[in-house]
Amino acid sequence: MTLTAFVSAKGSPGVSTTAALLAGVAPRPTVLADLDPVGGDVVLRHRDPAGKPLAPDRGLLSLGAALRRGQADRVLPEHLQVVSGGLEVLVGVTSPEQVNGLGPLWPPLAQALRAVPGRDVFADCGRLTVGSPALPVLTAADGVVLVTRPHLEHLAHLRERLRWLLETLALGGTPVPVGVILIAPERDRGAAAECRQLLDTAHLRATVLGTLAQDEKGAAILTGRSDRPAGRTSLVRSARALLPALYRFVDPPLGGDLR
Ligand SMILES: Nc1ncnc2c1ncn2[C@@H]1O[C@H](COP(=O)(O)OP(=O)(O)OP(=O)(O)O)[C@@H](O)[C@H]1O
Ligand SMILES: [Mg+2]
Repeated sequence: MTLTAFVSAKGSPGVSTTAALLAGVAPRPTVLADLDPVGGDVVLRHRDPAGKPLAPDRGLLSLGAALRRGQADRVLPEHLQVVSGGLEVLVGVTSPEQVNGLGPLWPPLAQALRAVPGRDVFADCGRLTVGSPALPVLTAADGVVLVTRPHLEHLAHLRERLRWLLETLALGGTPVPVGVILIAPERDRGAAAECRQLLDTAHLRATVLGTLAQDEKGAAILTGRSDRPAGRTSLVRSARALLPALYRFVDPPLGGDLR
């Protein structure tokens, strides 16, 4: 199955919400992996099926310890937890020291994420920075998705970060496709086309996958700030509509062209 890394170019456009939302509505078995090196949100935003908090030490930390002991990369399922609604998650770290502790384990971690049997993995890798420890996950992924808002300054940062990302991924030999998801008001129907044009003008080879609704109420439910049902929000509807493009992107039919 596939590994998709979600990142943001700058600011907090909603990458964690997007990764969690898409994993939550995905029709294929999917794991949400919280790999934000600055500290994860999954443990704060989700509860277990009984309404209790998740265990903060079962996830990336316990998996890191297992990989350090030289255990095979297929142990990842042992470190997952199930949240209310049935989604499997890999809980992230809570402090920068814990990220430092992972150090050289990021490449084997990336391989472990690729080897999860029978599940796609959607990994929230946080902000895309030059020294990000999560970069090995991006280079091992089937696709990297940049989440952005459509405003001019966001798009300008996207363009520059994308240029650097495409060069970095190209160094790895096997090209990793890069996609873009925009978070825009539903009435802004031209956001994706404008972004496509900007990338074309800059000769940046990235696929604009589509738009997720900018929906504050929906996002409040998904980030645990409201306990109303999320199913009928425009955010969830837009996520369901976007999934086919995401699957074509990370798991293209043989012989398919991405652009
Ligand atoms: N589709 C959306 N529509 C409206 N608001 C959203 C949407 N997605 C996320 N948000 C809001 O944006 C804020 C940031 O969301 P989130 O934590 O997902 O961003 P992030 O990019 O992961 O940020 P960080 O860099 O801090 O990890 C939250 O208040 C969230 O509710
Ligand atoms: Mg985040």
